[in-house]
Amino acid sequence: MKMKVLAINGSPHAQKGNTALILQPFLDGMKEVGAEVHLFYTKGMKINPCQGEHTCWFHTPGKCFQEDDMQEVLPKLIQADILVLATPLYVDGMTGPMKTLLDRFISIGDPIMELRDGHCRHPRRPGVKDGKLVLVSNCGFWELDNFDPLIVHAQAISRNLGREFSGALLRPHGPALKAMVNQGMPVNDVFEAAKEAGRQLIQDGRMNADTLKIISRQLVPRQQYVDIANQHVRKLLSALEDK
Ligand SMILES: Cc1cc2nc3c(=O)[nH]c(=O)nc-3n(C[C@H](O)[C@H](O)[C@H](O)COP(=O)(O)O)c2cc1C
Repeated sequence: MKMKVLAINGSPHAQKGNTALILQPFLDGMKEVGAEVHLFYTKGMKINPCQGEHTCWFHTPGKCFQEDDMQEVLPKLIQADILVLATPLYVDGMTGPMKTLLDRFISIGDPIMELRDGHCRHPRRPGVKDGKLVLVSNCGFWELDNFDPLIVHAQAISRNLGREFSGALLRPHGPALKAMVNQGMPVNDVFEAAKEAGRQLIQDGRMNADTLKIISRQLVPRQQYVDIANQHVRKLLSALEDK
Protein backbone atom coordinates (compact mmCIF):
# COMPACT_ATOMS: atom_id res chain seq x y z
CA MET A 1 0.00 0.00 0.00
CA LYS A 2 1.17 3.53 -0.81
CA MET A 3 2.53 5.56 2.11
CA LYS A 4 0.44 8.70 2.58
CA VAL A 5 2.28 11.91 3.33
CA LEU A 6 0.76 15.19 4.47
CA ALA A 7 3.17 18.12 4.21
CA ILE A 8 2.40 21.64 5.40
CA ASN A 9 4.62 24.57 4.52
CA GLY A 10 4.05 27.50 6.89
CA SER A 11 6.32 30.03 5.15
CA PRO A 12 4.74 33.28 3.92
CA HIS A 13 7.08 32.90 0.93
CA ALA A 14 5.39 29.59 0.05
CA GLN A 15 6.91 27.96 -3.08
CA LYS A 16 9.50 30.73 -3.46
CA GLY A 17 10.92 30.56 0.06
CA ASN A 18 14.05 29.05 1.54
CA THR A 19 11.98 26.43 3.38
CA ALA A 20 10.57 25.21 0.06
CA LEU A 21 14.12 24.81 -1.28
CA ILE A 22 14.67 21.95 1.18
CA LEU A 23 11.10 20.68 1.41
CA GLN A 24 10.66 20.17 -2.33
CA PRO A 25 13.51 17.69 -2.94
CA PHE A 26 12.56 15.89 0.29
CA LEU A 27 9.01 15.35 -1.03
CA ASP A 28 10.35 14.51 -4.50
CA GLY A 29 12.47 11.76 -2.96
CA MET A 30 9.42 10.32 -1.20
CA LYS A 31 7.35 10.44 -4.39
CA GLU A 32 10.15 8.81 -6.37
CA VAL A 33 9.81 5.68 -4.25
CA GLY A 34 6.04 5.54 -4.41
CA ALA A 35 4.66 7.78 -1.64
CA GLU A 36 1.43 9.70 -2.17
CA VAL A 37 2.18 13.30 -1.15
CA HIS A 38 -0.27 16.10 -0.37
CA LEU A 39 1.30 19.50 0.14
CA PHE A 40 -0.49 22.52 1.59
CA TYR A 41 0.87 26.06 1.89
CA THR A 42 -0.63 28.05 4.74
CA LYS A 43 -0.10 31.15 2.58
CA GLY A 44 -3.33 31.76 0.74
CA MET A 45 -5.35 29.34 2.86
CA LYS A 46 -8.17 30.55 5.04
CA ILE A 47 -7.56 29.02 8.44
CA ASN A 48 -9.13 30.78 11.39
CA PRO A 49 -7.64 30.57 14.86
CA CYS A 50 -9.14 28.05 17.26
CA GLN A 51 -11.72 29.89 19.37
CA GLY A 52 -11.13 27.58 22.35
CA GLU A 53 -14.82 26.82 22.71
CA HIS A 54 -14.37 23.03 22.52
CA THR A 55 -17.38 22.72 20.22
CA CYS A 56 -15.45 19.95 18.39
CA TRP A 57 -15.37 18.03 21.68
CA PHE A 58 -18.75 18.64 23.30
CA HIS A 59 -21.26 19.72 20.65
CA THR A 60 -20.24 18.24 17.28
CA PRO A 61 -17.59 15.64 18.25
CA GLY A 62 -14.66 15.66 15.79
CA LYS A 63 -15.98 18.67 13.88
CA CYS A 64 -15.09 22.33 14.31
CA PHE A 65 -17.91 24.85 13.89
CA GLN A 66 -15.66 27.01 11.70
CA GLU A 67 -16.04 26.29 8.00
CA ASP A 68 -12.72 27.12 6.40
CA ASP A 69 -9.79 25.43 4.65
CA MET A 70 -9.10 23.13 7.62
CA GLN A 71 -11.84 20.99 6.12
CA GLU A 72 -9.35 20.09 3.36
CA VAL A 73 -6.41 19.48 5.71
CA LEU A 74 -8.01 17.33 8.43
CA PRO A 75 -9.11 14.37 6.25
CA LYS A 76 -5.50 14.16 4.96
CA LEU A 77 -4.10 14.35 8.49
CA ILE A 78 -6.33 11.53 9.68
CA GLN A 79 -4.95 9.25 6.94
CA ALA A 80 -1.32 10.42 6.94
CA ASP A 81 1.41 7.87 7.63
CA ILE A 82 3.89 10.73 7.66
CA LEU A 83 3.20 14.32 8.71
CA VAL A 84 5.80 16.85 7.54
CA LEU A 85 5.80 20.24 9.25
CA ALA A 86 7.87 22.72 7.24
CA THR A 87 8.43 26.20 8.60
CA PRO A 88 11.06 28.91 8.64
CA LEU A 89 12.26 29.77 12.13
CA TYR A 90 10.30 32.79 13.36
CA VAL A 91 11.17 34.25 16.77
CA ASP A 92 12.78 30.93 17.72
CA GLY A 93 9.76 28.87 16.74
CA MET A 94 7.31 28.12 13.94
CA THR A 95 5.43 30.78 11.98
CA GLY A 96 2.09 32.05 13.28
CA PRO A 97 0.02 30.54 10.43
CA MET A 98 1.59 27.12 11.08
CA LYS A 99 0.76 27.33 14.79
CA THR A 100 -2.79 28.48 13.98
CA LEU A 101 -3.21 25.44 11.76
CA LEU A 102 -1.81 23.07 14.39
CA ASP A 103 -4.13 24.47 17.08
CA ARG A 104 -7.01 23.28 14.93
CA PHE A 105 -5.77 19.68 15.19
CA ILE A 106 -7.54 19.55 18.56
CA SER A 107 -10.69 18.19 16.89
CA ILE A 108 -8.96 14.85 16.11
CA GLY A 109 -8.36 14.24 19.84
CA ASP A 110 -10.79 12.59 22.23
CA PRO A 111 -11.69 14.81 25.23
CA ILE A 112 -11.29 11.92 27.69
CA MET A 113 -7.77 12.13 29.13
CA GLU A 114 -5.56 9.07 29.43
CA LEU A 115 -2.17 8.34 30.91
CA ARG A 116 0.24 7.36 28.13
CA ASP A 117 3.92 6.69 28.87
CA GLY A 118 3.35 8.13 32.35
CA HIS A 119 1.96 11.40 30.99
CA CYS A 120 -1.49 13.00 30.53
CA ARG A 121 -2.61 12.82 26.88
CA HIS A 122 -5.76 12.94 24.80
CA PRO A 123 -6.18 9.76 22.75
CA ARG A 124 -6.74 10.06 19.01
CA ARG A 125 -10.31 9.57 17.87
CA PRO A 126 -11.03 6.16 16.28
CA GLY A 127 -9.72 6.00 12.70
CA VAL A 128 -7.02 8.63 13.17
CA LYS A 129 -3.65 7.20 12.13
CA ASP A 130 -0.54 7.40 14.30
CA GLY A 131 2.59 7.19 12.09
CA LYS A 132 5.53 9.59 11.97
CA LEU A 133 6.27 13.30 12.12
CA VAL A 134 9.19 15.11 10.44
CA LEU A 135 10.29 18.71 10.86
CA VAL A 136 11.74 20.76 7.98
CA SER A 137 13.10 24.19 8.82
CA ASN A 138 15.53 26.89 7.82
CA CYS A 139 16.67 29.99 9.63
CA GLY A 140 18.51 33.27 9.10
CA PHE A 141 21.13 32.90 11.82
CA TRP A 142 24.21 30.82 11.17
CA GLU A 143 24.27 28.30 14.02
CA LEU A 144 22.46 24.96 14.05
CA ASP A 145 21.46 25.36 17.71
CA ASN A 146 18.99 28.10 16.74
CA PHE A 147 16.62 25.23 15.96
CA ASP A 148 16.76 23.73 19.47
CA PRO A 149 13.49 25.27 20.80
CA LEU A 150 11.63 24.33 17.60
CA ILE A 151 12.90 20.74 17.75
CA VAL A 152 11.71 20.42 21.36
CA HIS A 153 8.31 21.78 20.27
CA ALA A 154 8.08 19.37 17.31
CA GLN A 155 8.98 16.45 19.59
CA ALA A 156 6.26 17.46 22.06
CA ILE A 157 3.70 17.76 19.25
CA SER A 158 4.70 14.28 18.05
CA ARG A 159 4.10 12.84 21.50
CA ASN A 160 0.72 14.55 21.81
CA LEU A 161 -0.36 13.33 18.38
CA GLY A 162 0.88 9.83 19.20
CA ARG A 163 3.35 10.04 16.30
CA GLU A 164 6.98 8.98 16.28
CA PHE A 165 9.34 11.93 15.80
CA SER A 166 11.50 10.80 12.87
CA GLY A 167 13.92 13.72 12.89
CA ALA A 168 14.48 17.05 11.19
CA LEU A 169 15.87 18.52 7.96
CA LEU A 170 17.49 21.73 9.17
CA ARG A 171 19.10 24.45 7.09
CA PRO A 172 20.86 27.12 9.19
CA HIS A 173 21.98 30.29 7.35
CA GLY A 174 19.22 29.28 4.96
CA PRO A 175 19.21 32.46 2.83
CA ALA A 176 22.79 31.64 1.75
CA LEU A 177 21.52 28.56 -0.09
CA LYS A 178 19.46 30.46 -2.65
CA ALA A 179 22.21 33.06 -3.09
CA MET A 180 24.71 30.28 -3.79
CA VAL A 181 22.36 28.58 -6.26
CA ASN A 182 21.93 31.89 -8.08
CA GLN A 183 25.71 32.29 -8.26
CA GLY A 184 26.17 28.75 -9.58
CA MET A 185 28.12 27.66 -6.51
CA PRO A 186 28.29 23.94 -5.63
CA VAL A 187 25.38 23.17 -3.27
CA ASN A 188 23.78 20.30 -5.12
CA ASP A 189 24.87 17.86 -2.41
CA VAL A 190 22.42 19.60 -0.03
CA PHE A 191 19.48 19.08 -2.40
CA GLU A 192 20.55 15.52 -3.18
CA ALA A 193 20.74 14.75 0.54
CA ALA A 194 17.21 16.15 1.09
CA LYS A 195 15.96 13.90 -1.73
CA GLU A 196 17.83 10.93 -0.33
CA ALA A 197 16.34 11.56 3.15
CA GLY A 198 12.88 11.36 1.53
CA ARG A 199 13.70 8.06 -0.16
CA GLN A 200 15.17 6.66 3.07
CA LEU A 201 12.13 7.59 5.15
CA ILE A 202 9.77 5.73 2.81
CA GLN A 203 12.00 2.75 2.06
CA ASP A 204 13.77 2.21 5.39
CA GLY A 205 11.31 3.90 7.76
CA ARG A 206 14.09 6.18 9.04
CA MET A 207 16.50 8.88 7.87
CA ASN A 208 20.23 8.43 8.11
CA ALA A 209 22.00 10.84 10.49
CA ASP A 210 24.87 11.39 8.01
CA THR A 211 22.40 12.33 5.28
CA LEU A 212 20.72 14.87 7.59
CA LYS A 213 24.15 16.30 8.45
CA ILE A 214 24.80 17.12 4.77
CA ILE A 215 21.54 19.13 4.63
CA SER A 216 22.73 21.23 7.59
CA ARG A 217 26.36 21.51 6.52
CA GLN A 218 28.25 24.80 6.68
CA LEU A 219 27.73 26.77 3.47
CA VAL A 220 30.03 29.68 4.34
CA PRO A 221 32.15 30.47 7.40
CA ARG A 222 30.22 32.40 10.07
CA GLN A 223 32.13 35.70 9.87
CA GLN A 224 31.84 35.74 6.08
CA TYR A 225 28.09 35.09 6.32
CA VAL A 226 27.63 37.92 8.83
CA ASP A 227 29.73 40.31 6.71
CA ILE A 228 27.84 39.53 3.49
CA ALA A 229 24.44 39.76 5.22
CA ASN A 230 25.34 43.11 6.81
CA GLN A 231 26.70 44.46 3.52
CA HIS A 232 23.35 43.61 1.92
CA VAL A 233 21.40 45.23 4.76
CA ARG A 234 23.53 48.40 4.63
CA LYS A 235 22.93 48.66 0.89
CA LEU A 236 19.17 48.43 1.40
CA LEU A 237 19.27 51.01 4.19
CA SER A 238 21.37 53.49 2.26
CA ALA A 239 19.05 53.13 -0.76
CA LEU A 240 16.27 54.12 1.61
CA GLU A 241 18.17 57.22 2.77
CA ASP A 242 18.78 58.26 -0.88
CA LYS A 243 15.04 58.34 -1.56
C1 LIG B 1 9.34 37.65 11.74
C2 LIG B 1 10.62 36.91 11.50
C3 LIG B 1 11.23 36.27 12.56
C4 LIG B 1 12.42 35.57 12.37
N1 LIG B 1 13.01 34.97 13.45
C5 LIG B 1 14.18 34.30 13.28
C6 LIG B 1 14.82 33.70 14.39
O1 LIG B 1 14.34 33.71 15.52
N2 LIG B 1 16.01 33.07 14.18
C7 LIG B 1 16.58 33.00 12.94
O2 LIG B 1 17.66 32.41 12.79
N3 LIG B 1 15.97 33.55 11.85
C8 LIG B 1 14.79 34.19 11.98
N4 LIG B 1 14.16 34.75 10.90
C9 LIG B 1 14.73 34.58 9.54
C10 LIG B 1 14.03 33.49 8.72
O3 LIG B 1 14.00 32.25 9.41
C11 LIG B 1 14.76 33.30 7.38
O4 LIG B 1 14.71 34.50 6.65
C12 LIG B 1 14.24 32.18 6.53
O5 LIG B 1 15.20 31.92 5.51
C13 LIG B 1 12.91 32.47 5.86
O6 LIG B 1 12.45 31.30 5.20
P1 LIG B 1 11.34 31.34 4.03
O7 LIG B 1 12.00 31.98 2.83
O8 LIG B 1 10.96 29.93 3.77
O9 LIG B 1 10.20 32.16 4.52
C14 LIG B 1 12.99 35.49 11.07
C15 LIG B 1 12.36 36.15 10.00
C16 LIG B 1 11.18 36.86 10.21
C17 LIG B 1 10.52 37.56 9.05
